[in-house]
Amino acid sequence: MKMEGNTILITGGATGIGLALTESLLKLGNEVIICGRREDKLIKVQNEHPGLHIRVCDVSDEESRKSLFKWVTENFKDLNVLINNAGIQRAINLKEGVKGLEGESEIKINLEATIYLSALFVQFLESKEESAIVNVSSGLAITPLAAVPIYCASKAGVHTYTKCLRSQLSDTNIKVFEVLPPLVISELNMDYRKKVGTTNTGIKAVKCADAIVDGLEKDKFEIQHPALDNLKTSTMEDVDKLFEKMNGPW
Ligand SMILES: NC(=O)c1ccc[n+]([C@@H]2O[C@H](COP(=O)([O-])OP(=O)(O)OC[C@H]3O[C@@H](n4cnc5c(N)ncnc54)[C@H](OP(=O)(O)O)[C@@H]3O)[C@@H](O)[C@H]2O)c1
Repeated sequence: MKMEGNTILITGGATGIGLALTESLLKLGNEVIICGRREDKLIKVQNEHPGLHIRVCDVSDEESRKSLFKWVTENFKDLNVLINNAGIQRAINLKEGVKGLEGESEIKINLEATIYLSALFVQFLESKEESAIVNVSSGLAITPLAAVPIYCASKAGVHTYTKCLRSQLSDTNIKVFEVLPPLVISELNMDYRKKVGTTNTGIKAVKCADAIVDGLEKDKFEIQHPALDNLKTSTMEDVDKLFEKMNGPW
């Protein structure tokens, strides 16, 4: 798809991969709107990029999503790209039973919001000459990390949902992309990263954003890390072997 002259909504665009993507897409000559829960983070980015539009929104909340949709579609009639990037990750010990599942929910933020936001925008995007929905899942959607089980399940859900969405929209002008980043240095699950000493492990968010822009430009519908490309042709046995290597015994 063309990478300039678009009007793009990025959820979770004020930090990490979303921020790197925001800056890259602004530089390429796109109009960009970002949303997130923390207004201070949004204002800080807007101060650095005066042309940027911001909106406070909790994508896990139905009313907040509807209000975002109404505001965006009333104020940005040319909106043609939705990037579902907002996400959280939590280390959860399943031996604690339901106690470990309390609090913020990856199912609501990573999976439900992606499903509902794309459904909200489908008909609006269909009326545009060229449009796209971009869902950010994770390499962990394919090979899970046992320490973050609900995150992996939510991203596997995003992975399969995105395949179905792409298939159903194949006769429309909406292109459906999935991004499966590898480990990227960001705020995501910082407490766990500190605990296991991986705060600086992974690729830089800018490098991830470059790969996303390159993939979108080339109409590569599943944009993944080269290491994951190998999994495309490998067997379930290979995936299981990698899972064992990543997770070890508990
Ligand atoms: N970092 C990695 O290693 C990695 C690898 C694979 C995939 N990913 C995926 O990449 C995406 C971006 O993550 P990141 O690494 O850039 O982490 P990040 O810096 O923590 O970014 C996540 C963003 O999502 C926003 N967000 C979270 N919950 C939200 C909610 N309920 N409503 C609206 N916005 C919300 C956050 O803003 P507020 O807190 O202000 O709402 C934040 O700006 C996520 O989907 C993540 O799962 C990351």
